[in-house]
Amino acid sequence: MNISVNYSEDYQGLVSAELHEKLQAIHEGIQTKTSTGSDFLGWVNWPSSLTPEFLQDIKVTADRIRSNSEVLVVIGIGGSYLGSKAVLEALSTPFQKDDHLEVIFAGQLVSGSYLKQLIAYLDSKEVTLNVISKSGTTTEPAIAFRFLRQYMEERYGEESASRIIVTTDEEKGALLSLAKEKGYKRYVVPGDIGGRYSVFTAVGLLPIAAAGHDIEQLIAGAKKAEEELQVFDIKSNAAVKYAVIRKHLYDKGYPVEIMATFDEKLTYVQEWWKQLFGESEGKEGKGIFPASVLYSTDLHSLGQYIQDGKRMLFETFLMVEKASDDLTVFEAEDNRDELNYLSGLTLHDFNKACHEATASAHLAGGVPQITLMMEQLDEKHIGHLLYFYMMACAYSAYLLDINPFDQPGVEDYKRNIFKILKKPGY
Ligand code: PA5
Repeated sequence: MNISVNYSEDYQGLVSAELHEKLQAIHEGIQTKTSTGSDFLGWVNWPSSLTPEFLQDIKVTADRIRSNSEVLVVIGIGGSYLGSKAVLEALSTPFQKDDHLEVIFAGQLVSGSYLKQLIAYLDSKEVTLNVISKSGTTTEPAIAFRFLRQYMEERYGEESASRIIVTTDEEKGALLSLAKEKGYKRYVVPGDIGGRYSVFTAVGLLPIAAAGHDIEQLIAGAKKAEEELQVFDIKSNAAVKYAVIRKHLYDKGYPVEIMATFDEKLTYVQEWWKQLFGESEGKEGKGIFPASVLYSTDLHSLGQYIQDGKRMLFETFLMVEKASDDLTVFEAEDNRDELNYLSGLTLHDFNKACHEATASAHLAGGVPQITLMMEQLDEKHIGHLLYFYMMACAYSAYLLDINPFDQPGVEDYKRNIFKILKKPGY
């Protein structure tokens, strides 16, 4: 099980002796946790350091939520929301109302109408809240929590304390003091793991387990990736390879990467990837802008721009080798739609052909191509994929001499909003 990385040009030729040396230094810096931002490299060995007791504790809490609730509202933004959302969507079974607990997100945006309608919807369901904020002070989820906490207290009275779970820093933040005061069950966001690298901590694991997915398999996949990517080999280390190709394309004048997929279940993996790479790399006037498209939908929309618009894009296909479910085109007696030439073809195979056709058209149109291939969409392979992306992101940022783990730019809008709204002290 691994992620294969294919590039439309010669990859080996990209790695000069100088680059090889730099990559090796980056690799050692990450593995020995000595590189810039080393205080935030806790995610590197996190999958292999997770204990069965910790996973069991998450599973017990998840089972309790499933036994007394129909809806889990997860309140969070950025890295405190996108990881679990990405995994839940990737493993989802659309249109099926099964026994899975429904997970609904809040606090990822500020909307009175969203919150009002959510609260109205919750009225006929049994509910648990999981509020997630590493800092414990982020305004958007804090606003959502203020309304939803009031709702829970009015509805459940004393019982509300056992229906609210807080995932936050171990030592600081307004959310921590509130959780202590109210006696909420608490999970810790480790101090050395930043939000967008936290999907394998309680931040991601609790909502994923509560939805009924196998977190042991998710971690097994991440652990496998951790093992594989510990080996520094520029030919076989997929994270190094992806980072090298991205940097090469960036230097050649392609500052925008489009992540393309044919599977709508991967839409939130794309969103998570955009946050991971955008927030990690986009600093000091540098960085590749991450964008995403869903095909075939966007072949009839942004596809025109990609084929013929301003030449600044490269495209990375995220492909899944095996379909989880499929249909085969059948022979129709009347052939009025003239599709009998497709009979016997699975829809997955149609997408494979469409990938080939699109990639070669876009390449001819001046859009360099990368293909990332994963085997299938299940917990194990998704765990592997997400870890791969985190490691590739660290290499990519370090290749640009950027600290991947801070986000100074995010503070600017916050300061302004506090000033505009006259927060004391601003
Ligand atoms: O990756 C990050 O660090 C950010 O995107 C954070 O996850 C996001 O800003 C939310 O922060 P917090 O969890 O402190 O509320």
